[in-house]
Amino acid sequence: MVVAASIRNQRSDDGFALLKRDNTARTSIGVAIDESALAGREVISRQGANWLFEPSLSGEPRYTARELSPTTWPDFERLFSKHGGVGGCWCMYYQRPHGGTMKGLTPAGRRAKNKLDKKLLVDDGRSHGVLLYDRENPIGWCAYGLKQEFPRIDSGRNYRRMNLENDPEKLWRITCFFVDRDYRKKGVAKVALTGALSSIKAKGGGVVEAYPVTRKSAKAWSKWSNWFWFGTESMFEREKFKVVGLMGPHHLLMRRTVKP
Ligand SMILES: CC(C)(COP(=O)(O)OP(=O)(O)OC[C@H]1O[C@@H](n2cnc3c(N)ncnc32)[C@H](O)[C@@H]1OP(=O)(O)O)[C@@H](O)C(=O)NCCC(=O)NCCS
Repeated sequence: MVVAASIRNQRSDDGFALLKRDNTARTSIGVAIDESALAGREVISRQGANWLFEPSLSGEPRYTARELSPTTWPDFERLFSKHGGVGGCWCMYYQRPHGGTMKGLTPAGRRAKNKLDKKLLVDDGRSHGVLLYDRENPIGWCAYGLKQEFPRIDSGRNYRRMNLENDPEKLWRITCFFVDRDYRKKGVAKVALTGALSSIKAKGGGVVEAYPVTRKSAKAWSKWSNWFWFGTESMFEREKFKVVGLMGPHHLLMRRTVKP
């Protein structure tokens, strides 16, 4: 049995972490994932079926990745429903230009609106992300999309303070990771990131930016990975992202170019 501490997700006005700790003891249901089965797995994109990874040729064919789409919506719904819509957010926070659109709603009303609006955006092709599966079971999520899909990033105080020069012609963003609580710390987020980059490549590439938690903050917050929805510095470093600058006290702006 592993005792973990959880925190409730809370974001500041620009979406960066506000800590609120809840030291509830939890039993972690350990699920063995054969990480060696991931090594050397070729990332491919099969048009139509939207599968991003081929089943591993050796070991168990554990992870596969698929694009979020009207077809895979029920899987996204399943993963998020298992975790209360992930704080009720349904990965909508950065897709809204500001919080004002939710004013006057009760918490239950906000949760319902987030879910409904996410579904509408998915149906309309305006919300992107990669779902990761353990066999048929959706276990991980990485949200990505063109800059226009995440207007809340632009209105964030810390982002504005970066005083960035003109945007690159095609600017992509990687904004959120989510991994089933029973599968954490087993490399799922890292694989989801590879999947998102593969999707961006298949869509013509461009400059990709991310806002990971700095190493120092990740170390300090180690028990509370609920605050790592932007991913960690090391995850992006491994994928050849370079630091553009510090964004507030706990986050970096990192970028890389993905060729088509
Ligand atoms: C953050 C999260 C996505 C990480 O997923 P994961 O599959 O456990 O991560 P991985 O095992 O792929 O590890 C990725 C990196 O993060 C680090 N990491 C993960 N959890 C960590 C923790 N609790 N403390 C410190 N580092 C941690 C790993 O060590 C690894 O670093 P490395 O690249 O140096 O090896 C997962 O904990 C999660 O979903 N948390 C909730 C986030 C959330 O609420 N998202 C909703 C936004 S709407």
